[in-house]
Amino acid sequence: MRTINSVSELKDTVKMLKSQGKSVGLVPTMGALHEGHISLVTRCRKENDVVVVSVFVNPTQFNNKEDLRTYPRTEEADKRLLEAAGCDVVFMPTVEEVYPEPDNRVFNLGPVAEVMEGAMRPGHFNGVAQIVSKLFMYVEPDRAYFGEKDFQQIAVIREMVRQEGFRLEIVPCPIVREADGLAKSSRNVRLTPENRAKAPAIAKALMESVEYAKTHTVAETHDKVVEQITAAGMEVEYYQIVDSLTMQAVENWDDAPHINGCVTVYCGDVRLIDNIAYK
Ligand code: PAF
Repeated sequence: MRTINSVSELKDTVKMLKSQGKSVGLVPTMGALHEGHISLVTRCRKENDVVVVSVFVNPTQFNNKEDLRTYPRTEEADKRLLEAAGCDVVFMPTVEEVYPEPDNRVFNLGPVAEVMEGAMRPGHFNGVAQIVSKLFMYVEPDRAYFGEKDFQQIAVIREMVRQEGFRLEIVPCPIVREADGLAKSSRNVRLTPENRAKAPAIAKALMESVEYAKTHTVAETHDKVVEQITAAGMEVEYYQIVDSLTMQAVENWDDAPHINGCVTVYCGDVRLIDNIAYK
């Protein structure tokens, strides 16, 4: 595995590999890698000749300075995990390397980026679009892999790809969970033992609601999930039951061919997100 810190070296390396006819898969990450990320790398390994993983805590997508400051950074452990997972190139740039000057691009990503995380974290998706578009320009991958835990992010990235005309396949990968159901997240390490014990109630509420939804309305299902998570001692920031492609709220189960429920929860001061497919 080769570690690359500079954009020009990354571009040259990938260009050389592509000239040999090799397909290239990209897994963008912010490091602090866990099994969720590794599942993306494993899938990427299976489907491409060359696996590129970026590890970069992107400052432009953090609308909360404290969240950026305390975001876990575990570079040496990340490299070991990536090597073991069959990564060929890990790109670990500095902030100055990626943003030698401020990125003033404003993406107009439309309704898909305006709801849920878009409404709660102003500027977040613009920052995601900035970094992901830069990575796509550097690597020009054939495929890029994203975890479905950040469900709305995938829809937003698809819209950015459509607008910018990138030619690649976006590959969504299923959420990886702890044995007790909690969605794996780099932020889980910040949970106190007491809050870590509460957190599985999020996934439990979501999963139980799938059965409940079969005999109840969207509104009733929404309320049940919120009540169950609240009763477990956490604060629901939002729970929205949405069209899985447009991210717009649905009122009835037959409003869209695919429907997901997306939740964000404060477990102590740690903000956790999760989602579930209803159909
Ligand atoms: O999902 C993430 O970890 C980040 O938003 C991403 C896609 C790596 C962009 O920084």
